[in-house]
Amino acid sequence: MFRTHYCGKITKAELDEEVTLSGWVHRRRDHGGVTFIDLRDREGLVQVVFNPQLSETVHQQAHGLRSEYVIQVTGKVALRLEGTENTSLSTGEIEIHVSDLVILNPSKTPPFLIEDEEEVSESLRLKYRYLDLRRASVQQHFILRHQLSQAVRQFLNDNNFLEADTPYLTKSTPEGARDFLVPSRLNPGTFYALPQSPQLFKQILMISGFDRYYQVVRCFRDEDLRSDRQPEFTQIDLEMSFVDQEEILTLMEKMILKVFSEVQSLQLPEPFPRLTFQEAMDRFGSDKPDTRFGLELKDLCDIARRSDFKVFRTVLEKGGKVKGLNAKACAKLSRKEIENLTDEAMSRGAKGLAWMKVSDIGLEAPITKFFKPELLEEIRKTLEGEAGDLLLFVADKEQVVYDVLGSLRLSLGKRLNLIDSSVFQPLWVTDFPLLAFDGTEKRHVAIHHPFAAPMDEDLPLLESDPLKVRAQAYDLVVNGVELGGGSIRIHKQEIQSKVFELLGISKEDADSKFGFLLEALQYGAPPHGGIAFGFDRMVALLAGVESIREVIPFPKTQKGICLMTDAPSDVDPLQLKELYIKKERAIKAP
Ligand code: AMO
Ligand code: AMP
Repeated sequence: MFRTHYCGKITKAELDEEVTLSGWVHRRRDHGGVTFIDLRDREGLVQVVFNPQLSETVHQQAHGLRSEYVIQVTGKVALRLEGTENTSLSTGEIEIHVSDLVILNPSKTPPFLIEDEEEVSESLRLKYRYLDLRRASVQQHFILRHQLSQAVRQFLNDNNFLEADTPYLTKSTPEGARDFLVPSRLNPGTFYALPQSPQLFKQILMISGFDRYYQVVRCFRDEDLRSDRQPEFTQIDLEMSFVDQEEILTLMEKMILKVFSEVQSLQLPEPFPRLTFQEAMDRFGSDKPDTRFGLELKDLCDIARRSDFKVFRTVLEKGGKVKGLNAKACAKLSRKEIENLTDEAMSRGAKGLAWMKVSDIGLEAPITKFFKPELLEEIRKTLEGEAGDLLLFVADKEQVVYDVLGSLRLSLGKRLNLIDSSVFQPLWVTDFPLLAFDGTEKRHVAIHHPFAAPMDEDLPLLESDPLKVRAQAYDLVVNGVELGGGSIRIHKQEIQSKVFELLGISKEDADSKFGFLLEALQYGAPPHGGIAFGFDRMVALLAGVESIREVIPFPKTQKGICLMTDAPSDVDPLQLKELYIKKERAIKAP
């Protein structure tokens, strides 16, 4: 038997017992002829003592021990000498007086210390992920991840959901990213796509009568990576039959409240606030607003129209918008700092950033000469300007104004320390438009995905004014992070075909890509809808870490590389031959 107890679980209750422990050498200290080792396993550390008076041989053996050796010790649990207790350890009152030692496996000197406080570069951590994962603070994230998935499963099981698998080797479902393709050896020249989500399969499960389905499932998207995006990530994916939007939001809100309180003792505001997409854009310039702080955007079109400022008026004449925000207490910023803000705005697409400082006597800036005093006062009032504030304005196409002021708002919120990181602010964003117009592709694109149902009352607009149609779609946003999104689905074949048509998908294309769905919808498809949560994002949020790489056991770098295995890598030419794949020319590996 390798062990009778976990190292980190031994307490005074085991006093005088003989125990056997197995684990890693965390630290070794030699003191006055006696050797002390902190022995570590998943549950924590315990001090083990090699005293020559107890066994000269074992003490000699202990001299050879180094960091990260795997050993087994047998000995008696004893109280530590008075004054040598360690109150920061759960095992800090006791130690093990070792009578027997077995070295199970030595270790090379690790490239970094297995300590929580040790600063290690991310690339080294990922190359030696197995050593990184030995650190207690890192392990903590995975314990949390496990607990969260268990709590979610429990809730869904209790609410009559059935867990079901859907294939990974499949046909692509568009979720807005590129597909990862897998060549088929048995069907030369054809490819599977790894699923961007199980969207169509979960809809088919509803048509199959499953009624309620869930899956904690891997999704694959070939997109540009960021701290909250990985090429493979995990969703809590679910779907329900015979429900409306309200029922889904209510049940999901109950689930989030329950699991957040169970796992992290977090009490979220109840009910979650709701914002329509339009309101979120108008007030925060974003469909995933961080509502933990103010600095809201204000509309100034009406005032700008009455001014003599050409920059604003020209934009308005072209159908654009003028909006502003109040950078509280930022009048003290130097010209240079304002220039930096302007550069930031321009890097997001603005043509400039107009500003005014609020002083005791009113608004001050080179551009105030274009505004009558009453207009300046209206601007100050609209933006609730007080002496010491800096008012910022952007005039442009609506989307540019939102993007620029939305991102300035976030960076000012951070810079001005307005965000209380201990606060959790959930909210539902609803009433998304069904479609947007993609200027580069010159066609309509789905905002959520092509299977989201239009609002019933907007159905007539599908013909006359498709961009005005709202979808029965919703997102859950917490602290500015899009945690999940879903919709009521189209369950009528005619409407689905119409939406494909609006998206510029020809009938032939629709049949070849989605024929199975269009067919299935004609065999008694029930009304249905669902949602998927980004599980990694949820864990990261609860763990209080910035990047989802911290909560994925084996994540990839920004360039999609696994530093431990070196994937993706070159393959044997024979493998390519079997798949009928030929490299066009030799491409140098990165
Ligand atoms: P959506 O595309 O909005 O919806 O994805 C759902 C949630 O998954 C998370 N997410 C990601 N997390 C990490 N890395 C990524 N690359 C990544 N992409 C998305 C986000 C997002 O909110 N089938 C629909 C759901 C539905 O309609 O039911 C879907 O996949 O948190
Ligand atoms: P100009 O008249 O171009 O010198 O611009 C005067 C001020 O307006 C400068 O501070 C510019 O940065 C700013 N500005 C220019 N274009 C815009 C715009 N589209 N929106 C907001 N401010 C702008």
